[in-house]
Amino acid sequence: MTSVTAQRSSQIHEELERLTQENDALRRQLRHAQSLATVGTVTGMIVHEFNNILTPIINYAHLAASGDAEMVKKAITRAAEGGQRAVDICKALLGLLHEDAAEPLTLPLAELVQQSLLATGRNLAKDGITLTVDVAADLTVRARPSELKQVLVNLLLNARAAVRTKGMGGSVMITGSRQAGGVRISIEDSGIGIAPELLELIWEPLFTTKTGQDGQERGSGLGLPLCREIVGAMDGKITVESVQGQGATFHVWLPE
Ligand SMILES: Nc1ncnc2c1ncn2[C@@H]1O[C@H](COP(=O)(O)OP(=O)(O)OP(=O)(O)O)[C@@H](O)[C@H]1O
Ligand SMILES: [Mg+2]
Repeated sequence: MTSVTAQRSSQIHEELERLTQENDALRRQLRHAQSLATVGTVTGMIVHEFNNILTPIINYAHLAASGDAEMVKKAITRAAEGGQRAVDICKALLGLLHEDAAEPLTLPLAELVQQSLLATGRNLAKDGITLTVDVAADLTVRARPSELKQVLVNLLLNARAAVRTKGMGGSVMITGSRQAGGVRISIEDSGIGIAPELLELIWEPLFTTKTGQDGQERGSGLGLPLCREIVGAMDGKITVESVQGQGATFHVWLPE
């Protein structure tokens, strides 16, 4: 009887192990599939930015065609600068789609932040938003790079939307700091903030206040639940603080 119980217990254990592995694999697939949705969200802005990059290049090229030596020099400089920015944006976007290895890597945070800013496809300054980045060059995090960039892109898009909805300029600040046992990445904005009764709800899949009215972008309510899933899978956590009407700060905590 005892051996039958032991055998049954071992079978249950094996089955549990199998289901856990299957669950982990499915969650990994889901996180990767979500990167396509993130890229879809930023595509509109990137197309807009490419238009902004290409239009002056074409205009200068036309002026240079007149043969004016000064204009030719300007046209070439402009083409080189614009072309470089376009390449950087493309690389950052492809970096979002890259499938990460299962094991997190130790990576410089400042670089991940720069690539995430590029992948949003639009300079915050173009919307009159002041961006401050305070991340030490030697600060590293343990993370899966594409997934962490997805988190940062989602938080940056939310911050940008919150500041734009409030109107009148505003600011976004990205800070990286060493904390006991890890690193904290904070994205602070001076946007509309979050009502206290919504502070738990915002993590629910499909919860959104972005209805697409008043010229506002429509939301699908998947950004923050995805961020929580990704950060949790890297042994980190994500938290929020907000004063309604004054702004919000999202903190991502990761192992160093
Ligand atoms: N920085 C922020 N400031 C104010 N409200 C925020 C901020 N970030 C998120 N929220 C609130 O949380 C809600 C859920 O955010 P989430 O990123 O999950 O979805 P979304 O931005 O509405 O849509 P999606 O990200 O799928 O396009 C938002 O609709 C908004 O009400
Ligand atoms: Mg969002």
